[in-house]
Amino acid sequence: MNVESLNSIAQAMVAPNKGILAADESTPTIGKRFANINTESTEENRRTYRNMLFSTPNISDYISGVILFEETLKQSNDADLLFPDYLTSLGIIPGIKVDKGAQKLAGSNGETVTEGLDGLRERLSDYYSLGARFAKWRAVIHIGSNKPSDYAIDTNAHALARYSTLCQEAQIVPIVEPEVLMDGDHSLERCYEVTSKVLGTVFEALDKQNVALNGIILKPNMVISGSDANNRADVATVASATVNCLTKHVPEEVPGIAFLSGGQTSEEATAHLSSMNELGPHPWQLSFSYGRALQALPLKAWSGKSENITLGQKEFSKRSRLNSLARTGNYHPQMESAD
Ligand code: 13P
Repeated sequence: MNVESLNSIAQAMVAPNKGILAADESTPTIGKRFANINTESTEENRRTYRNMLFSTPNISDYISGVILFEETLKQSNDADLLFPDYLTSLGIIPGIKVDKGAQKLAGSNGETVTEGLDGLRERLSDYYSLGARFAKWRAVIHIGSNKPSDYAIDTNAHALARYSTLCQEAQIVPIVEPEVLMDGDHSLERCYEVTSKVLGTVFEALDKQNVALNGIILKPNMVISGSDANNRADVATVASATVNCLTKHVPEEVPGIAFLSGGQTSEEATAHLSSMNELGPHPWQLSFSYGRALQALPLKAWSGKSENITLGQKEFSKRSRLNSLARTGNYHPQMESAD
């Protein structure tokens, strides 16, 4: 393992003014997104859609890396250049989702554990040869009555650490993603308590399994009210609670924290990130690794029609630029209509 090279990849993933596009929806998930726009989820439609995003003019001004699904890693752009090679030519780092999804955790009351460790060493070596320089593994933690259990937190943290060590052995930077879901009517305080426990357990597991912390990127949820909560906390409260929780748990060696959007609206996710960066400087870069918050508007603008490609790219460019501004706390909601 060459820690210096892992560290320089991690630094590039959270380069100033840039963030990561999560475009790694599994085939069933992208199928749901396409169903919402009445578009059939064929392999070619998925390629066309992702090609639209990646070929958006000047996108490398705002986007440092893209997380791909395995199918996309092996697809090509319209000029027959494999997507990882195309992205690399733009100065964008290709990454790969390597987990096999959250599955029912045996012996739990409806909780999940993320699977995908079997054969991971061999898969990572294949992904590296295809150009992937970072990976993603998403653990899912549910808030509910008696949830999460210590059992679910420990099991997911252990798997995240096993994945991380295997990635670093393969010279691939692991994105460590413990997502505390926003689903439910819980308060921001409850989200804080759970996120705090999860992050504490994850960093303990990473330490036990010899993960080099300067060669990872953390991808956490924000500390936020449940999506069905009454009186949801405002932007400033989410920002200060999230920064406070991260400051307690994330060692300074970690180069960057790239948030997931987790079901927030595109505008909320940008406003929260900007407000957190306004509270800086922080010991780590505070960036984005959004899926829905970057893609919802371009996906709708495209709606599966070739004549809408330019419109879709315009929306994607706008969201990327506004999130880029949020990296330095310079986003303002009025910018939404000014564009
Ligand atoms: P969202 O931003 O839509 O939560 O997706 C990010 C992601 O990569 C989830 O694993």
